[in-house]
Amino acid sequence: MNLLALVTLVIAFPALNVADDVPSAPTITAYPKAPGNFKPAPGHQTHEGKVCQVEPNLVDAGPSILAAAQECNNGGTVFLPSGDFVIATALDLTFLSNIDFAIWGNIRFKQDLELWPTQAFQYAFQTASMFWRFGGENVNIYGDGKGVIDGAGQFWWSAMVQNSSVMRPCLLGTDGLHHATISGLTMLNPPGWFNLIANSTDILVSDMTMLVGSASPDAPAKNTDGWDIYRSSNVVIQDSRIVNTDDCVSFKPNSTQVVVQNLDCTGSHGISVGSLGQYQGETDLVEDLYIYNVSMTNATDVARIKVWPGVPPDASGSTSGGGLGRVRNVTYEHIQSENNDHVISVSQCYYTKNQTMCDMYPAKLVIEDVLFKDFKGTTSTKYDPRIGELTCSSPDVCHDISVHDINVTTPSGNPPIFNCNNMGDSDLAEITCA
Ligand SMILES: *[C@@H]1O[C@H](CO)[C@@H](O)[C@H](O)[C@H]1NC(C)=O
Ligand SMILES: *[C@@H]1O[C@H](CO)[C@@H](O)[C@H](O)[C@H]1NC(C)=O
Ligand SMILES: *[C@@H]1O[C@H](CO)[C@@H](O)[C@H](O)[C@H]1NC(C)=O
Ligand SMILES: *[C@@H]1O[C@H](CO)[C@@H](O)[C@H](O)[C@H]1NC(C)=O
Ligand SMILES: *[C@@H]1O[C@H](CO)[C@@H](O)[C@H](O)[C@H]1NC(C)=O
Ligand SMILES: *[C@@H]1O[C@H](CO)[C@@H](O)[C@H](O)[C@H]1NC(C)=O
Ligand SMILES: *[C@@H]1O[C@H](CO)[C@@H](O)[C@H](O)[C@H]1NC(C)=O
Ligand SMILES: *[C@@H]1O[C@H](CO)[C@@H](O)[C@H](O)[C@H]1NC(C)=O
Repeated sequence: MNLLALVTLVIAFPALNVADDVPSAPTITAYPKAPGNFKPAPGHQTHEGKVCQVEPNLVDAGPSILAAAQECNNGGTVFLPSGDFVIATALDLTFLSNIDFAIWGNIRFKQDLELWPTQAFQYAFQTASMFWRFGGENVNIYGDGKGVIDGAGQFWWSAMVQNSSVMRPCLLGTDGLHHATISGLTMLNPPGWFNLIANSTDILVSDMTMLVGSASPDAPAKNTDGWDIYRSSNVVIQDSRIVNTDDCVSFKPNSTQVVVQNLDCTGSHGISVGSLGQYQGETDLVEDLYIYNVSMTNATDVARIKVWPGVPPDASGSTSGGGLGRVRNVTYEHIQSENNDHVISVSQCYYTKNQTMCDMYPAKLVIEDVLFKDFKGTTSTKYDPRIGELTCSSPDVCHDISVHDINVTTPSGNPPIFNCNNMGDSDLAEITCA
């Protein structure tokens, strides 16, 4: 052993002792699919760096979490041991660089309708807001199956009965996060969306359990999307179980290079692209998505693409269609359906009940190169024997939509049919359009 190695060992030992009980980041990889050139956070930190342990706090753990993140940035680990952490101060963690967050405790956000409008980070995009936001690079956030983020959703859903515009921040937000993993967390009852991944690249999300349950029939859970992806690319979401009431995963404008695999979703609105093209003159791009091996139960839809139609030539500033852009290169493959209303739903006439109107002013947002392949299972009685909808606003703005190997049975046992409009030269030979 040379002198340099000996010196390194001696220096390393005390640090390792301190960090003995602190869990290091799990080694997770995107599997079986991954976007090309995918680079989530580099390996796990070794804890040769600092450990900043935060003590449980029922009043406001916010300032101590922020102080720990500042202290342990650049190589350390923020550790929240088991215990309760109530956050009453919005946390701007967008300065991160090479840092781990080991969350073994139970995180909640103060139940206070007046507090959060003065605290939360607010965005123009769909009036989204966040209790806390993560940004920066080389970050691992992990719960090792122990950590819980509990949104106490019933408090917010009940408040909505009086005031539907109550601010409901999402439970975990990223804004400008690059090269990161988020794993092993249980998330419960978000006020609104569970996760918003925005302005981010190279994010691997794995081994999450996300559950919604309202105890009050008069105040049901609202808008509890699992993940909304916005202005982000190179994202993988995998190996997770979600029980919720809105989209399981939603691809909002400018989601590209995204893989979703090995998910088990119950009760949702499916894995949804859009809605897109809502704002006249804006360009929305959703490209290069691979949705693989998803099991969907008791949902309204399984695979869904929602695009607004066009607007009359004299319209200006429309917020109900007329947007530009494209949905391109999207694959849904190896999907298990149980008791869902529709297995496939493509609409380029979103929110237009009137096909005549949609035909008059077709969408400007093109849908092309979309493949639905290898679907098995059952649908619900709702539209029996219809199992899907394929509606374009004009054959000129839909190209190469293919449906193959659909083995889905209806409750009645009647042969399944699809409702198809304006599908032009799409490859639908294996299904029956009515
Ligand atoms: C409803 O909540 C919004 C958002 O917090 C607030 O601006 C508005 O004043 C509230 N309306 C009423 C009637 O309380
Ligand atoms: C994303 O980045 C844009 C441009 O910097 C910024 O305006 C926006 O607030 C960021 N976050 C979200 C969620 O849109
Ligand atoms: C999406 O990308 C297009 C093309 O780069 C851009 O014009 C548009 O503003 C982007 N939209 C958002 C919401 O970032
Ligand atoms: C599909 O995902 C499930 C978890 O939902 C997993 O158990 C199974 O091994 C996966 N199958 C394939 C072919 O990847
Ligand atoms: C289509 O998207 C997938 C998933 O992101 C990607 O692997 C593939 O290279 C893309 N194909 C083309 C032709 O860009
Ligand atoms: C799906 O719905 C049926 C009928 O309501 C119910 O019996 C079943 O438990 C649900 N499945 C899951 C996984 O929640
Ligand atoms: C659909 O819109 C067209 C054009 O405005 C109108 O003539 C027709 O009556 C509408 N049909 C229905 C069912 O509302
Ligand atoms: C369709 O699924 C049923 C039930 O799982 C199975 O018995 C049948 O062989 C499948 N048919 C094809 C063509 O794969």
